[in-house]
Amino acid sequence: MSNRKSLHFAMFHVFGSCAVTPHFAAYLGGSMANATIKYSKRLDVLPPYLFAQIDTLKAEKEAQGINVIDLGVGDPDQPTPPHIIDSLVRAAHNDANYRYPSSEGMLSFREAVSEWYAKKGIAIDPAREASALIGSKEGIAHLPLAFINRGDKVLVPDPAYPVYRIATILADGKPISMPLTADHGFLPDIDKAVNDAKLLFINYPNNPTAAVADSDFFKAIVDYASDNDIIVCHDAAYLELTYDGYVAPSFLSTPGAMNVGIEIGSLSKTYNMTGWRIGFAVGNADVIAGLRKVKSNLDSGAFQAVQEAGIAAMTGPQDTVEALKKLYLGRRDALVDGLRNIGWSVDKPKATFYVWVPVPDGSSSLEFSMRLLNAGIVVTPGIGFGDHGEGYIRFALTVPVSTIEEAVKRLQEVI
Ligand SMILES: Cc1ncc(COP(=O)(O)O)c(C=O)c1O
Repeated sequence: MSNRKSLHFAMFHVFGSCAVTPHFAAYLGGSMANATIKYSKRLDVLPPYLFAQIDTLKAEKEAQGINVIDLGVGDPDQPTPPHIIDSLVRAAHNDANYRYPSSEGMLSFREAVSEWYAKKGIAIDPAREASALIGSKEGIAHLPLAFINRGDKVLVPDPAYPVYRIATILADGKPISMPLTADHGFLPDIDKAVNDAKLLFINYPNNPTAAVADSDFFKAIVDYASDNDIIVCHDAAYLELTYDGYVAPSFLSTPGAMNVGIEIGSLSKTYNMTGWRIGFAVGNADVIAGLRKVKSNLDSGAFQAVQEAGIAAMTGPQDTVEALKKLYLGRRDALVDGLRNIGWSVDKPKATFYVWVPVPDGSSSLEFSMRLLNAGIVVTPGIGFGDHGEGYIRFALTVPVSTIEEAVKRLQEVI
């Protein structure tokens, strides 16, 4: 071994394996006593991230040798379309893409987003009214930091994607629940909402309820927001995943929407790109400016090669989206028809890849989900999405029809 190699070897064994002796640590000027680690109050009040907990329980069952069918987390099982991957590969060979991107995204990416909206009849100025996001979760998580002061109220749907509430808490804001109930079509009753909030989150097609909203609902939101000076953030992660000829409207197609808020889009579900981390925010230029200011101080943007792939996704052939919708439609029908056949009362969703089902036997959503887990089926308990999710479980259609059929068989044996 050369001297250099042996030094490297020794350092690896000292540092790499963390075998730092007290004597050696003292020599380095350190101490072996653990510092007392105190988390911030805002971290202390955060619930554990639901899906991480479910993953742990699932892993425990698998370790016991149980073959688990995972209808829990909404992560597509299908591959990203090849033309999008090819675009990434080409862009990954371009030296220009190795440098820091701008946090608001390449102009060409924002132009592609603008082109995408133009097809919906909505004009977006790529210079001022659009920003790339490192996945839509990132934009949602950062938005309250731009507008919320300590104690400011933020209206969040309940049940909902947990990040609206968590992002509000991280910005020291106060989340105010807007119940989504079956008797109101899982739309918030905006007449009952407080009028002194600063920000409001909505999400249609909806996760977890799979409900859809029409333009009258969006008009009521725009009126309410402009009367009360409330910023609207519409999370449109599932806008393109619709069935039976239904087309989900963009919030920005509502007259006046551009004056009150933004829409957050995601490439994750439409193009099976959850791992790529790419999305966008579009809408009111002042809101986008606030979000961009936060982002420019906290992140350095999405890898440009991923943005190139995003451009390929949005401007390229859309037949893969049609094929994906067909695939989910078959799964939706297999699950809903299967559940109906075993006596459950289930609505067929018009959009998303979720099915939101009342717990059939009156037990709590957590108890029921645990029973299903013991039978080798992971579903998400409604309570994990908020208090008003109690009484429901959510199925994600992210497994093949044959697996869904097997899940229904197992369900029949459990209840
Ligand atoms: C409603 C909703 N919004 C946003 C996201 C985050 O998506 P992205 O992968 O773009 O961060 C999800 C992911 O499941 C979601 O369900």
